[in-house]
Amino acid sequence: MKSSCWDELLELFLRENRNGKSPFVSGEAISSSLGISRTALWKRVNALRARGFVVEGERGRGYRLTASPDISAEELMCTVEGPLGKKVLFFQTVESTNDKAMGLASEGASHGTVVMAESQKRGRGRLGRKWASPGGANLYMSVILRPELPPRDAGLITLMGAVACASALRERIGLAVKIKWPNDLVFSGRKLGGILTEMRSEPDRILYAVVGIGINLNMKPSLFPGEIKETATSVLGETGRRMRRTPVAAAVLDAFSREIDGLRREGREPLMERWREMSSVLGRKVKASVGEKTIRGTAVDIDEEGCLLLRDAAGKLRRISSGDVALLRQGGG
Ligand code: BTN
Repeated sequence: MKSSCWDELLELFLRENRNGKSPFVSGEAISSSLGISRTALWKRVNALRARGFVVEGERGRGYRLTASPDISAEELMCTVEGPLGKKVLFFQTVESTNDKAMGLASEGASHGTVVMAESQKRGRGRLGRKWASPGGANLYMSVILRPELPPRDAGLITLMGAVACASALRERIGLAVKIKWPNDLVFSGRKLGGILTEMRSEPDRILYAVVGIGINLNMKPSLFPGEIKETATSVLGETGRRMRRTPVAAAVLDAFSREIDGLRREGREPLMERWREMSSVLGRKVKASVGEKTIRGTAVDIDEEGCLLLRDAAGKLRRISSGDVALLRQGGG
């Protein structure tokens, strides 16, 4: 059984609701399992209802949970299996979940704390770009990590985040999502999500890192702002299906927990191998923009710190540690 879910009643209902069924559980059984009176149970049922959970009560049969909100911190905390997401703070709107998480991390928030929001007023992407963050559709969350890694390995955090998101979307939704170095989640050449890693470190250790994850789930493609209309996509746009956001968030967090654990136990090679399998750039001709510079070449691998290795036209191996990569048409430039 999972530990430390803050709402034992919700945890009990979610445990009962396996295999798509939602059976009634008698009030007596719930009261005795939670060690609370029937009046206290009734109050807790109403508290769940007030937060958007649909709990049916029937005389002689008990209670059952028949529907949950599309996104909720309560369900997420009860569902995750690994250490990430055991504590979740949910906001209707924030400037940016990364800003909020960086602030909380500086005040001592623990490893695995997650900040999630319905919408962001100033969602941020890499390289100072905006991240379209309207409410009611997508996933915006930031995970606080306290990794035992030196700053030179920060690239591995982004690799783990990207691998976790891509594998969770593959398993949960069945979409063959790929990773465009360093952190774009792409499908059919369009961007489905991205990761923004920020951190504070001392010369020899990372104090904390915040991994901001944005995934376009239920956004209608027609609603993407003009500047990204041609390049962005969503799960709804690709599959025609709407996804409940909490299970997707839980799948991403659990996949991320597994990557962190895997890195500690097995080292970096298995992580790099998973990244290679899902890469959209390896073996392709690309153009890397690094500040003012442009480097063209074939993407041949990543190195142990997560940098991209390009073989340029002169046969020289070039190591790209930051910047943006665009695929070139074969033979073109
Ligand atoms: C990128 O591809 O440029 C990274 C996008 C990251 C977006 C997410 S949404 C949650 C978190 N909060 C932010 O302001 N940004 C990240």
